[in-house]
Amino acid sequence: MTSDQTPLVIAVDGPAAAGKGTLSRRLAAHYRLNHLDTGLTYRATAKALIDRGLPLDDEAVAARTAGGLDLSHLDRSVLSAHEIGEAASRVAVMPQVRTALVEAQRGFSQTMPGAVLDGRDIGTVVCPDALIKFYVTATPEVRAKRRFDEITGNGGSADLASIQADIEKRDARDSERADSPLRPAADAHLLDTTEMGIEAAFEAARRLVDAALEH
Ligand code: CDP
Repeated sequence: MTSDQTPLVIAVDGPAAAGKGTLSRRLAAHYRLNHLDTGLTYRATAKALIDRGLPLDDEAVAARTAGGLDLSHLDRSVLSAHEIGEAASRVAVMPQVRTALVEAQRGFSQTMPGAVLDGRDIGTVVCPDALIKFYVTATPEVRAKRRFDEITGNGGSADLASIQADIEKRDARDSERADSPLRPAADAHLLDTTEMGIEAAFEAARRLVDAALEH
C-alpha cells in the first residue's frame, strides 16, 4: 500500500551476477524512483580499507570505515572490479559493518518518492515492508558467462572458469554467513533469468509491480 506520504520501495535480491542491477535500474527509471545498488556500499567499504592499507578482517576498523562512507559518491566504474567483489563479501560477514551500512540503506529507502534497492538482504532485513520483493537468480554457468561478457565487453580480459569458481565461492560465503545470509524472503517473487533476456525479466517484474500497486 502506498500513498503520497509513503515511499514506494521495491526490493531486489539474489546471488552474484544474476542481473539484479540491470533489472533494478530499469524498474527505477520506469517508476521514477531512486536506486541504490547496496553491493556498492560493501564494495566501497572494502576498497577504502585496501586503499588505506588496513586489514579486511578487523571488525571495529571496518565498521568505522563503513559508517564514514558517503552513499551519494559511489563510483560504479571503479567499484565494480571483479576482485573488489571478493573483498566485499569478506567485509560483509561482519555484523558491525552490516549494522552501519543497513542504517544508511534504510535511510535511503525512506527518502521520497521511494527507491529500488538491490542486494542480498533487502527483502529479509533492510526493507522487510517493501511493497514488492524479487529474488533474481540464474544458473552459475549463465551468471559466470554474463560477468565474463561484461568484463570482456569493457575491454578487460578474464577466464570464464575462474570467474565461475569465484562466483560459486562468493555465493557460498554469502549464503552461509550467520548475519543476514543470502536467501529469498518468504514473500519474494522468484525470477529465474537463466533463459530470460533483460527485456523479458523487466516485463515480468513490471507486471507484478503494477498488480501490487493496484491493491
Ligand atoms: O554485482 P555482484 O552481484 O557481483 O555483487 P554485489 O551485489 O556488488 O555485492 C558484492 C558483495 O557484497 C556480495 O558478494 C555480498 O557479500 C555483499 N553484499 C551483502 O552482503 N549484502 C548486500 N545487501 C549487498 C551486497
